[in-house]
Formats: sequence, structure tokens, C-alpha cells
Amino acid sequence: MSNKDQTSKLWGGRFSEATDQFVQRFTASVNFDQRMAPQDIQGSLAHAAMLHGIGVLNDQELQDIESGLATILDEVNAGTFAWSVALEDVHMNIEARLTELIGVAGKKLHTGRSRNDQVATDIRLYLRAAIDTISLEIDRLQQGIIDLAETQADTLMPGFTHLQTAQPVVFGHHLLAWNEMLQRDYGRLQDCRSRLNQSPLGAAALAGTTYPIDREQTAAALGFDKPTENSLDSVSDRDFAIEFCSFAALLLTHMSRISEELVLWTSAQFNFIELPDRFCTGSSIMPQKKNPDVPELVRGKVGRVNGHLVSLLTLMKSQPLAYNKDNQEDKEPLFDTIDTVLDCVRAFADMIPAIIPQKDVMREAALRGFSTATDLADYLVRGGLPFRDAHEVVGMAVGHGVDTGLDLAEMTLETLQGFCPDIREDVFEVLTLEGSVAARDHLGGTAPAQVRAAAERAREKVASRSR
Ligand code: ARG
Repeated sequence: MSNKDQTSKLWGGRFSEATDQFVQRFTASVNFDQRMAPQDIQGSLAHAAMLHGIGVLNDQELQDIESGLATILDEVNAGTFAWSVALEDVHMNIEARLTELIGVAGKKLHTGRSRNDQVATDIRLYLRAAIDTISLEIDRLQQGIIDLAETQADTLMPGFTHLQTAQPVVFGHHLLAWNEMLQRDYGRLQDCRSRLNQSPLGAAALAGTTYPIDREQTAAALGFDKPTENSLDSVSDRDFAIEFCSFAALLLTHMSRISEELVLWTSAQFNFIELPDRFCTGSSIMPQKKNPDVPELVRGKVGRVNGHLVSLLTLMKSQPLAYNKDNQEDKEPLFDTIDTVLDCVRAFADMIPAIIPQKDVMREAALRGFSTATDLADYLVRGGLPFRDAHEVVGMAVGHGVDTGLDLAEMTLETLQGFCPDIREDVFEVLTLEGSVAARDHLGGTAPAQVRAAAERAREKVASRSR
């Protein structure tokens, strides 16, 4: 086969035989990188305008390139673009189609750039847009949680440590704990965005280019804060993708914890909440079943996201400078992470505001398990007893409760005085659930007034986000 048969390849000039069919398929990325077509076109438009500015393209050529790329974007959006594996990736598919549409001007577009800086630019643009979409969904999720927290600022429930009843809290306080996790995740996402938002365009293959390019111009046109500093680094590192995946792993870790609680709470044994039917499915054999599929799936999705983080870390490890084909393997893990995060956050943003708290059941549960035992100890300390002695006294009272089936608040004053004569009638104020939560009246505590104030502050933080 003559090397002329290789001319369908944009790099075919020096080759004397066609690419092996299997190798062609094995090395191609078009099946998964075609989703970056809009960003590839965006980057090409900025590059073409810059080439025109420095005299590489004349007015007509720039116009042809712009209208050709507009046609291609329409074809891509309409689903009529004919993707070809022989053309390897999104970049060469678009360039070949451009030349087919407009002729020789299309062949000039690649002046002063390489697929290496092109792909580095495209991924950053793609990920940046994804981050902005995810950010909006996290806003919506947090708003839903905060609104629910405010309406549940007086709903009593047991707080747990070791999943054993510990002290009473209000449900709104628990919900705002979820919000704090998400607030930090949001911050990590914005950190990632700010570090990735630099333009690698102009790094070319690895060393820069001999044309008098204007990197500031293309960076500004693409909404980047500035051009990257070093051409070798620009085409080689994918740390921004790793950083995004590590954000995602933490977010999904948090969401899996929330999921676990939702699953537990919807069980007949807890019955703290109900989820509307539209978020659940049934069993094909057990007619009574209503399964919390959405939180279960979110809990499970953390597995693939953690896996993708490890994939990318391992992919990057030991790669010498500068670009290596290994980096083509960055896309599938990154894209699947983006898709998974978006789906999970959307599912939660829809579902969490629809939670139906079973307030009576929660209150009833808080009354069991001696959840106000610490309050009794604190009461004795206020009366002058050292904390360790108070702990001992309350331990004996709880032991009596275990034997008799009585909660502390259900014992008579005489019984309690049997454990410590200093106990007075006013002890019953601290032994109630309401008294217990109201007493934790400081920043970060579970007193309903604190929870309302915390919800207000949380809402302001979400509302004041600038993007
Ligand atoms: N498809 C490639 C990737 O995703 C584009 C860059 C290829 N560059 C090269 N010289 N082979 O990384």
C-alpha cells in the first residue's frame, strides 16, 4: 500500500503502510472524547481569531473557519456528524470535516498548536463547565436541606454515638450537620476550579511554537484567568482532573453516609422518616416492600467514584514529561465521575426536601435509652458534685432503670434521691427532652434557637456565592 492511502490520516505523510485495524481501534478515543466537541470548537475559534490577529490567517480564511466550525457544531448538536474511528479522536474528526467543508483554510487552523495543548485546553473547558453545573445543583441541595432544617428545629430525636442512643438532639441540627459536610465539599470544588482555570493553549506539542502567538488573547477569549506558565507542564499534567475526582470521592463519601442514615431511618425498626413513593421501588416477590433505592444507589456509587480517583492517580504516576498517550486514559474516569456526581446530587436535591419526618416516632425513640443521663450528671455538677462522682450516681440510676424498665424521667423523686440526696424537684426540668436540647444553647449546639440561627447563617452562605 502506498503512503498516499494513508492521506486520510492527518499525520499520514511519513507512513508507508496503513494502521493495523485493531491498533486503529485500540488507539482511538473518538468514541468517548466526542463529548468535548463543543469545547474543541470553542478552542479552535479562539485560536483562529488569534492567528488572524498575528497575520497567519486573512479575513476570508477566518470567516470560512468560523462558518465551517458553526456548521460542524450544528451537525454535532443535531447528531448528524459522521464520527470516524479512522480519524482517531474528536480533534482530528473536526479538523478533517472543516477542511472538507471549507478547503485549504481548514488546513491552516492547526498552525502553531498541537493536539497536546488542544486536548489539555478542551478538558479544562469541559470540566470547568461541568463544575459550574454541579455547583448549581449543590446550591439546590443545600437550600433544600437548610429549609428542611428550619422547619425541623423543634423536632426531637435521639442523637447517636456508636449508633447507640446518646443525647437528644433536634432533627434540624442533624440536617445542618449534613449541610456542613456539603459546604466544605463545595469549597473544595471551587478550589479545584480556580486552579484549573489557566489556558494551556500555545504550549503546542511540548515546547511552545515559533509563531508570534498571543497566549493572553486566547486565554481571555476562553474565559481563563491567565495562560499557564510552562509549556511542558501544560500538556502533561492532569492534576486538575485528579483534584476534581478527589473532591468527588469526598462528596460521595458524605452522600453515602447520608444515604446510610436515610436507609436506616426508613426501615420498620427505626421508622423515623418516610420517603415519597416516587423515590422508591417495590419488590417483585414481597408485596409489602417499599425499598429506598435512591439512597441505596447513591451509597453504592461511591465505589466507582473512588475507583476513578485511584485510576487517575495511577495513570499519572511515573509519567515522564511531557505528553504521553497514557493521558488519553484520563477521559473515561473523569467523564464518568462528572456524570455520577451530577446524577447523585440531582437525586438528593429532588428527594431530601420531600422527606416526611415521623415526629412522634422520633420523640418516642429519644425517650428510650436514657438519653438525658448526661443532663442529670450536669445537674448534679451544678449542685456541687465533682463530675466523676455525678457520673457514678447517674450510672446507678440508669442501672435501676434497666432493671425496672423505667426512664430517668419516669422515676419518682424519692427513688432519685436514693442515689443522691441533693436531687430536688427541679431535676425533672432537665430530664425532659425539651429541657435537654434547650440547655445546649451555644454556637454549634442543638438548642432550637441555635439551630434556627445556624440555618439562617447557612442560607446566607449559599446565597452569597459569587459565580
Ligand atoms: N486523543 C488524544 C488524548 O486524548 C489527543 C492528544 C494526542 N496527541 C498525540 N500526539 N497523539 O490525549
